[in-house]
Amino acid sequence: MNLHLAQHHGMCFGVRDALRATHEAAKREPVTILGQLVHNPLVDAHLKTLGVRNGQLESTESASTQRVVITAHGAADTQREAWRSAGHAITDTTCPLVKKAHQALATLVQEGYHPIVIGQRQHVEVRGLVGDFPEATVVLEEVDTLQIPAAARFGVISQTTQPLDRVLELVSAIKRQHPRSEVRFVDTVCHPTKQRQTALEVLCHQCEVVIVIGGRNSNNTRQLTEKATRLGVRAHQVESPDDLREEWFTGIHEVGITAGTSTLDETVTAVMDRLRKMTPA
Ligand code: F3S
Repeated sequence: MNLHLAQHHGMCFGVRDALRATHEAAKREPVTILGQLVHNPLVDAHLKTLGVRNGQLESTESASTQRVVITAHGAADTQREAWRSAGHAITDTTCPLVKKAHQALATLVQEGYHPIVIGQRQHVEVRGLVGDFPEATVVLEEVDTLQIPAAARFGVISQTTQPLDRVLELVSAIKRQHPRSEVRFVDTVCHPTKQRQTALEVLCHQCEVVIVIGGRNSNNTRQLTEKATRLGVRAHQVESPDDLREEWFTGIHEVGITAGTSTLDETVTAVMDRLRKMTPA
């Protein structure tokens, strides 16, 4: 089998910096992470070995340490304030590109637009984005079933890890549904997500099967798997080499490999090594 590794794959600078900051904080004093630092079970297991505890962003009762860590996915200002008021010191590892999305939303609201966030309602990043704007509408449904209240001006941003093509489809759908309203879209899909999606398109032209490496609950990893499937290529998502199945590669010559933005380099290397040893019929 020929293995093709996507030109852009794996851990982004936002996750790397968040991990580094958490390590440094945990070396100095006990810390509680408010949620999952990144959606990667191997990273979680490693942090446990450092004694890092887990709490919930929404509950200031959930941390037993004085220092708490806000994850790369960010938080609403009201949540940060609640933790400070409860007497906690905060290590804030919010990715700068998530902060940019918060700023874009705040500016749209200040300028009088009704805020719309394209993303998964239950995802921690989206909960943080709309946390300070309870009037915001969150959409990700099928284009034809969009439920958006009437407004003269809509200000639209996106969760940073949504595929841009899907986001643009939804922006067009909002415009179609509200032809008399002004719809202003600020592109907040992050650069690393765009690069990984574009590199995957190239892989899909070369390969018969694509292996996507990353946590099962990682949004951007799932988006890569879904994109490959949409492009007509068989895609399998794995968290580690142990998830690989020889039967996936029977009669296959060209195999593509990519990884989500929270996937460790070591995991990518381990999956590649296992694939090299496979000899499917
Ligand atoms: Fe930041 Fe994008 Fe990574 S928002 S944490 S660079 S996936």
